[in-house]
Amino acid sequence: MPLSTAHVATARSARYIKQLVSHMDHKATATLTPDGRGTITVTAGTCTLTPTPDRLELTASAPDEERLARVEDVIARHLVRFAAQERITVEWTAPLYGGDLDPTHPLVGEYLLAHHTPADGILGELALATREAAGDAAHMQVSADEGALLTMLTRLTGARLAVEVGVFTGYSSLCIARGLAAGGRLLACDVSEEWAAIGRPYWERAGVADRIDLRIAPALETLRALAPEPVVDIAFIDADKENYPFYYEELVSRLRPGGLVVLDNVFLGGRVLDPAYREDRYVTMRRLNDLIAADERVDSVMLPVRDGVTVARRR
Ligand SMILES: C[S@@+](CC[C@H](N)C(=O)[O-])C[C@H]1O[C@@H](n2cnc3c(N)ncnc32)[C@H](O)[C@@H]1O
Repeated sequence: MPLSTAHVATARSARYIKQLVSHMDHKATATLTPDGRGTITVTAGTCTLTPTPDRLELTASAPDEERLARVEDVIARHLVRFAAQERITVEWTAPLYGGDLDPTHPLVGEYLLAHHTPADGILGELALATREAAGDAAHMQVSADEGALLTMLTRLTGARLAVEVGVFTGYSSLCIARGLAAGGRLLACDVSEEWAAIGRPYWERAGVADRIDLRIAPALETLRALAPEPVVDIAFIDADKENYPFYYEELVSRLRPGGLVVLDNVFLGGRVLDPAYREDRYVTMRRLNDLIAADERVDSVMLPVRDGVTVARRR
């Protein structure tokens, strides 16, 4: 079955998906997931639409190339019409077949999102509430598959003490808190009381609010004030990129043997792989990725989950 993809440069991807789904709902089967992805099925085939901060990712599929062209055309025409305030172009790739896809193709990411233990209603509602409150900033939230990975890693370490740097509206906090062993605690660090307040009712509904100790302060201050003993079972870093090396250092030294540091966004949208990007955040992340790979205190692996996730295990 042929597939094709298109990446449309725009900062308004979430808005266009919502508009398109609501418009097409009258003439086709159109659904919107809590994390803002759309699926539109017309007679000729299907298109999935995924929002990212700087582009809209489209994937079309149909039983044959003639019908694929019809799906591409209907989606492109509607998008161009909705994007009246900006000039967008929708350029589809040539038809691709399953055997043409390498494991980093965006379609594989879509497949991963459809093949993990699904997020339950509370997580789904939190994702929706975040999109409503934060609009395009909602992209900061971890994806459902990454959330499932966090719950699993927390469970696998039998964590009694977890630390999180970067709470936002508390989706990843909820995923980690759910994986804690009985009596376990999550120390959750952020500078924004306002965003975290959105998550708290969902933590309460999930029955984990009393396991989460939210600290509103620059995370480095909070981490440096912790006792130096190696008692942390799992730490998740997902905040300001320039401080990642400092967070890593403070946390890796406090991990018990076998404990994990998990770092999000280690690809920075792929720019980490391209030395032409020389801004501080890219240089910092590139150096940190090199440092962790060579760090004799840990065994590490980098996973192509979303924007890249490193898992480093203390030896
Ligand atoms: C990418 S978001 C975290 C997303 C969250 N893990 C989730 O799944 O929803 C980054 C967060 O880091 C926080 N942040 C930025 N700088 C910080 C700092 N110096 N100390 C603590 N938190 C910080 C921001 O307020 C923001 O909520």
